[in-house]
Amino acid sequence: MNGVSRNAHWENVYTTKGENEVSWFQEDPEPSLALIDLARLTTESAIVDIGGGASRLVDSLVARGFVNVTVLDLSESALGAAKARLGDRAKNVKWVVADVTTWEPPQTYHLWHDRAAFHFLTDDAARSAYVDRLKRALKPSGHVIIGTFALSGPERCSGLPVIRYDAASLAATLGPEFELIDTRPNQHVTPWGATQQFQFSTFRRV
Ligand SMILES: C[S@@+](CC[C@H](N)C(=O)[O-])C[C@H]1O[C@@H](n2cnc3c(N)ncnc32)[C@H](O)[C@@H]1O
Repeated sequence: MNGVSRNAHWENVYTTKGENEVSWFQEDPEPSLALIDLARLTTESAIVDIGGGASRLVDSLVARGFVNVTVLDLSESALGAAKARLGDRAKNVKWVVADVTTWEPPQTYHLWHDRAAFHFLTDDAARSAYVDRLKRALKPSGHVIIGTFALSGPERCSGLPVIRYDAASLAATLGPEFELIDTRPNQHVTPWGATQQFQFSTFRRV
């Protein structure tokens, strides 16, 4: 899928479906927050949520006092929904409408978080562009958290094919600069009660 059709797909999703009409809706981003704790950040640490969409993770980060949070997504409407929910607090967040595979990171980050965006990159060129952006954007010793469908997870999401990972295949994709420090399964229950197997792996840049 090229950048234009990717963008059109996600814009269509976020303009036609409500927050809890999408399979990935998560009321409480506790699994991500538990992993973010592993990185021992300070409230000044720079965090980027890649493919953050309309996720509520940003609400929790702002509530925890983080003052250097960026949410990046292809879909302007998704970010618009998150901004509207945050109201006045949205002005303390950097919102970036971009395709991560062509994004030029304007700063570096202590933490890169991605829940369910990376697994949509099904071709080698897009995956290597993603890893290139990760390498440019992450500070030395920075942490990367990537949540994807697990090997036993669904083969598609939002009508699109995905690549399923375990920690080993994700580590091989990121390369030797990233040391695996934690991996855990996660069962996500969709708003209509289906269970999806995820894996969340956390790496530290060496
Ligand atoms: C399944 S949703 C997950 C959203 C969010 N991370 C969450 O947990 O609710 C995937 C998100 O990735 C975004 N996305 C997909 N491909 C992307 C890309 N190449 N660059 C930036 N965002 C992308 C979509 O717009 C969508 O918001």
